[in-house]
Amino acid sequence: MTTTSTVPTTYAHVDFSALSHNLSLISGMIPNSCGILAVVKANAYGHGAVETARALINQGVSRLAVVSVAEGLTLRDSGITGQIVVLGPILEAQIPDLLARELTPVISDLRTCSAIARAAAALGRSVSVHVKVETGMARLGLTSDELPRLFEALADVKSIRIEGLMTHLADADGDSSDLTDAQLQTFRATLGTFARRGIHLPLVHVANSAAILRFPESHFSLVRPGIMLYGYHTLPKTVPSPNLKPVLQFHSTIVHLRTIEAGTTVSYNRTFAARRKSTIAVLPIGYADGYNRLLSNRGKVLVRGKRVPVAGLVCMDMTMIDVTEVPDVQVGDRVTLIGRDGQETVFADEVADWIGTIPYEVLCGIGSRVPRLYDSPAGTVPV
Ligand SMILES: Cc1ncc(COP(=O)(O)O)c(C=O)c1O
Repeated sequence: MTTTSTVPTTYAHVDFSALSHNLSLISGMIPNSCGILAVVKANAYGHGAVETARALINQGVSRLAVVSVAEGLTLRDSGITGQIVVLGPILEAQIPDLLARELTPVISDLRTCSAIARAAAALGRSVSVHVKVETGMARLGLTSDELPRLFEALADVKSIRIEGLMTHLADADGDSSDLTDAQLQTFRATLGTFARRGIHLPLVHVANSAAILRFPESHFSLVRPGIMLYGYHTLPKTVPSPNLKPVLQFHSTIVHLRTIEAGTTVSYNRTFAARRKSTIAVLPIGYADGYNRLLSNRGKVLVRGKRVPVAGLVCMDMTMIDVTEVPDVQVGDRVTLIGRDGQETVFADEVADWIGTIPYEVLCGIGSRVPRLYDSPAGTVPV
């Protein structure tokens, strides 16, 4: 993340009161006996992993999920002490760091399991692990056929304690519940296999955001929300929308204004030609900041409470917009690429629709050189 000592012209503003609202909403959807394993991978979906993790902890969350050992180390380096579960694959070379920094691995294959067991034994330690089972995603996880070999491999091993069992749903936000029902059935059968072996599992987790909302039978002892924490969902239109609040706004600033005559083209390759005398504003934001090039001649942004179009191709570091219809437009005006300005809104799900993707990608794509500004009790501060 970029730190900055100057006033940024392009920045993301992160509002943790919205995060708190979304967290409360999620808490209200799950039983009291069920906890939250908050997903802060991918820099907390672009919001800033360390700051978001701290905000979640301040709001009572004690377990965080990341995708890699590197992401876990970033959180530990910033002083975060609660449980950090590494959802993604772990390479043998990363095991010393994993153990030293007390990250909780998810075991998805026998080879990694044995390597962790050996490394922990060599340190005279016992490490808690979560086992991931494959139920329909065909990504990571042990199949039910592989479980007997896991039990065999761990039969006399004291250095590994299975604390959790999990799977990941492939279609919880899909139109049909068929695959989710089948995955949950396979998962319940796996829970039965562990129970018959006498393995007590304090932490059982399956539900991502969509499943939290749609499949109460998937709640078990923990849920793993990601996108809903950040104020979005990808549920089908047939499901009533939860009252989520987007946490992040993405802003830039008009740094230059130019009047062009009809017929003048804007940006590379002449894809935009003015149909009338027009006022074009230059913004210091481009695809290198995560303003996707597919938004060229397609995206809309907000200036002085009005929606205005992107004019021409989005460049690496700059984007032009047509502000002809904005009265009194001036250099220095704030521009909203994601967020609200007056009565108008452009949120990440709408941006995603324009370019055929999902709000996840729009948020995660916000570049590392974009400063994130966080609300603090003293106001908005650059971090
Ligand atoms: C294993 C796992 N669990 C939970 C999540 C959170 O999903 P969502 O953001 O849809 O809530 C993800 C996100 O991709 C994931 O990979």
